[in-house]
Amino acid sequence: MIIAQISDTHIALDTPDADRRISDFERTIADINALDPAADVIVHTGDIVHNGRADEYAVAVGILAKANAPVFVLAGNKDDRTNLRAAFATRGYFAPNSEFIDYAIEEYPVRLIAVDTLNTRSNKGEFCLERAGRLIDMIDAEATKPIAIFAHHPPFEVPVGPDPINFEAPEMMERLRCAVQHSERVIALISGHVHRSTAGHVGSIPATVMPSVATTLRKGEYPAQMKMRPVYHIHRYDPAWGFATEARIVAASVESAVTASRSGGQRSIFG
Ligand SMILES: [Fe+2]
Repeated sequence: MIIAQISDTHIALDTPDADRRISDFERTIADINALDPAADVIVHTGDIVHNGRADEYAVAVGILAKANAPVFVLAGNKDDRTNLRAAFATRGYFAPNSEFIDYAIEEYPVRLIAVDTLNTRSNKGEFCLERAGRLIDMIDAEATKPIAIFAHHPPFEVPVGPDPINFEAPEMMERLRCAVQHSERVIALISGHVHRSTAGHVGSIPATVMPSVATTLRKGEYPAQMKMRPVYHIHRYDPAWGFATEARIVAASVESAVTASRSGGQRSIFG
């Protein structure tokens, strides 16, 4: 099973780098579409858009509509639950009777469980008792398959970031850590948010964090020839040894619709 993870695309329509963010997103999807063997699923770990606006989500939905693999999305701190839900509701995987954007996807060899760490008061993550209960219920809903858990905010210290703790309060992070460790079937914890690549552990569970797809917002040092090339993560699952994660650089030859339309091509993401 191959999971392509994308994150922190931060689509905006009125920033100086708005076209670049769209182009980075488009080129990443085009690169995923060209993978051989193909990705089975794409998971966007949040901060899909930058201001939570419906018109920003419309652009993101248009880009994701070009993906060959099924796409599942999480809410990041820049997302708006109501507008995100409206934009992606037709996909049918959100829980119908909760404000939270959390769910379990059952049709793969690994169960995919998305948690909602959005905090409407701050960019830092939140994880309340209700969400912890919902996560444990989702984990317990099936008793045989391994589980990969996706959360926008990494629930472990990220010392390379401006603040190593990415939750509003340490006990919220601890609550998520405890919930994730509720079952030994959880074999991967996958996050975004800090806009840089890093890895850690929650107990014995390997945890990975991918950089922002938006190259203008990416943190950390990259060689000059990579400055314009998004990086995303490919998580390959094998029943014998679990997940192996690759940081994939979008091929230099992958062109975006924005670039094509600028250079006289006919394609446009709005067309
Ligand atoms: Fe972000």
